[in-house]
Amino acid sequence: MAECVHLLPRRWFLLSSLLLVAAAAAAAPVVHGYGGLTVGFYEKSCPEAEAIVRKVVAAAVHDDPTTTAPLLRLHFHDCFVRGCDGSVLINSTKKNTAEKDAKPNHTLDAFDVIDAIKEKLESKCPRTVSCADILAIAARDAAVRQGQWSKDGNLYEVETGRRDGRVSSAKEAVTYLPDSFDGIRRLITRFASKGLSLKDLAVLSGAHALGNTHCPSIAKRLRNFTRHHNTDPTLDAAYASKLRRECRSERDNTTQLEMVPGSSTTFDATYYSLVAQRKGMFHSDEALLRNDLTRGLVYQYMSSQHSFLRDFGVSMVNMGRVAVLTGTHGEIRRTCSLVN
Ligand code: HEM
Ligand SMILES: *[C@@H]1O[C@H](CO)[C@@H](O)[C@H](O)[C@H]1NC(C)=O
Ligand SMILES: *[C@@H]1O[C@H](CO)[C@@H](O)[C@H](O)[C@H]1NC(C)=O
Ligand SMILES: *[C@@H]1O[C@H](CO)[C@@H](O)[C@H](O)[C@H]1NC(C)=O
Ligand SMILES: *[C@@H]1O[C@H](CO)[C@@H](O)[C@H](O)[C@H]1NC(C)=O
Repeated sequence: MAECVHLLPRRWFLLSSLLLVAAAAAAAPVVHGYGGLTVGFYEKSCPEAEAIVRKVVAAAVHDDPTTTAPLLRLHFHDCFVRGCDGSVLINSTKKNTAEKDAKPNHTLDAFDVIDAIKEKLESKCPRTVSCADILAIAARDAAVRQGQWSKDGNLYEVETGRRDGRVSSAKEAVTYLPDSFDGIRRLITRFASKGLSLKDLAVLSGAHALGNTHCPSIAKRLRNFTRHHNTDPTLDAAYASKLRRECRSERDNTTQLEMVPGSSTTFDATYYSLVAQRKGMFHSDEALLRNDLTRGLVYQYMSSQHSFLRDFGVSMVNMGRVAVLTGTHGEIRRTCSLVN
């Protein structure tokens, strides 16, 4: 039953979730939807929660401006595997290989920032703020634009009230995380299975405005692509040559390639101009041009950064609602890398 809810398009998801929530909750300790989430969930229980997250994120970003990208990405990886339940933070044990140690994890980063936030929160308000919420708040803070939107620079109001799960599986990460070589149909299915729309897909892909990639994620596009094409024909040829010079070997996992050259620490809509010029880093970025709706949005966001930033907030809230644990489900982890 719970899985059926996931596979339906969003509008049906919303309608039917009202009817199915009781049944789903009985089948598994997972509350679908966002019943228990609210803006300012910790207002009474830990009034400084969001300010503490903000302070630690700001300090980390001040030290190293590239910290914003991994913080944003962690929330995405968390939400796409078992919902936004902090499962991406759990360490492997002798008996279990966790999401962290799955192949698509490679280069996940900023775990130390999350640990630093958790430590501060535990001393201020013990056992109160979930690791899943720390990820959601930190992701919001990572995409902040000082002085541009509401007075504190936030693009959107983040919902909180998530609780932490107790399971993390590398196998599930491999199954559910989108792959950089996915085509548009695969991407749409993957997002739909999380209750997310084509629009969410187009908007959230704009997170690739920030950060870096590494050669193994794009190597297949650059050499021996198919029998007939040495290079991925959907990648601009001159851009492919540039990337080939930077990626001498497909095993090179140390070279950093900026997603948006020259602007990988600025959260803006430049990504969409690159995609439109067939200079998106991944096959999955270019794939947005293969569907009328997503292509339309690429062109819209390219010419209106304002509409991108506005829609990004809406879609981040949507993503933050995926299969959350609320109420008395799950737990509040004491240490984000360990279940209690
Ligand atoms: C649509 C499907 C997506 C695919 C196939 C995808 C794939 C990838 C891959 C392969 C990397 C680079 C890993 C590496 O080589 O180091 C990456 C980086 C990144 N992704 Fe995605 N991603 C997707 C969607 C998203 C979403 C929805 C978000 C956040 C809302 C996101 C945020 C990021 C960020 C910020 C980075 C840079 C990380 C860093 O610099 O450390 N991605 N993504
Ligand atoms: C979790 O794993 C990381 C990396 O291996 C390690 O640094 C950290 O200490 C571990 N956390 C705990 C609580 O053992
Ligand atoms: C990712 O997984 C590999 C094993 O596949 C592991 O060696 C590496 O430490 C993991 N990366 C992170 C950031 O946990
Ligand atoms: C590409 O394929 C050809 C023939 O299949 C092979 O000889 C060559 O070594 C390959 N090049 C790379 C870079 O893998
Ligand atoms: C990077 O590549 C080296 C050599 O191939 C390997 O030993 C190392 O484990 C890799 N690191 C990661 C994070 O995958």
